[in-house]
Amino acid sequence: MEIKPINSYDAMSKLAAKIVAGQIINKPKTVLGFATGSTPLSMYRELVKLYKKSKLDFSKVTTFNLDEYLGLSPEHPQSYHYYMYENFFKYVNIREENIHIPKGNAEDPVQECLDYEKEIEKIGGIDLQILGIGINGHVGFNEPDINLEAKTHVIQLSDDTITTNSRFFKNLDEVPKKAITMGMATIMRSKKIILMAWGAEKKKPILKVISGHIATEVPASLLQLHNDVILIVDKKIYPSSIVTDPLFYPDKI
Ligand code: GLP
Repeated sequence: MEIKPINSYDAMSKLAAKIVAGQIINKPKTVLGFATGSTPLSMYRELVKLYKKSKLDFSKVTTFNLDEYLGLSPEHPQSYHYYMYENFFKYVNIREENIHIPKGNAEDPVQECLDYEKEIEKIGGIDLQILGIGINGHVGFNEPDINLEAKTHVIQLSDDTITTNSRFFKNLDEVPKKAITMGMATIMRSKKIILMAWGAEKKKPILKVISGHIATEVPASLLQLHNDVILIVDKKIYPSSIVTDPLFYPDKI
């Protein structure tokens, strides 16, 4: 894992956007995996700026989003569909038919998962996947458990996630209890992965992610098995002294 401790949220967003832009320039017909949440928000803004100022061309790009709440229609303001269009898609020249987000209101959610996985396979997998991390160590909506699902699936959200994500809803009851998410194998098959983490509440999961231990109770820790992951991380939770300390062991922090 290549670790890049970063001084500011702004610098983290610019760096991630630069890597995405480089990927598109090197391979215009690229397949990107996108995440939602507060972490990548500014990265999307940076990409919009690059589109407007530097003519970064999204016309051949295909995207697959990680996840979507089950039961929410694309028009619901808290759906990930809505988030992606409002924060990114509607400002760039991406083709509607190249955008993929699991349908939260699919009549048959299990079939939707199978179709979604098939679409990713058909195109040859994801070239570059953007990830955030949940405070419980989830990626996408792959929740900590003794078993994890490999492929795109319907998942019961953990109480932790429901509580954390209730900040975007009027109250706890409004938060969907299930979601569709890419599985860990879907994510791990991406050729390259950028994991972004900002803020004090991400310290605990991030230290587990780079601990050398792999546990399904910390789904993001599986990323240690991938050979091309860039972790762009808040310097306050991951000072560079740690990176160079051969005796560093997260449990001691
Ligand atoms: C959400 C999403 C994840 C996201 C994570 C962190 O529940 N399903 O894809 O990475 O939680 O969100 P944030 O960036 O707001 O901390």
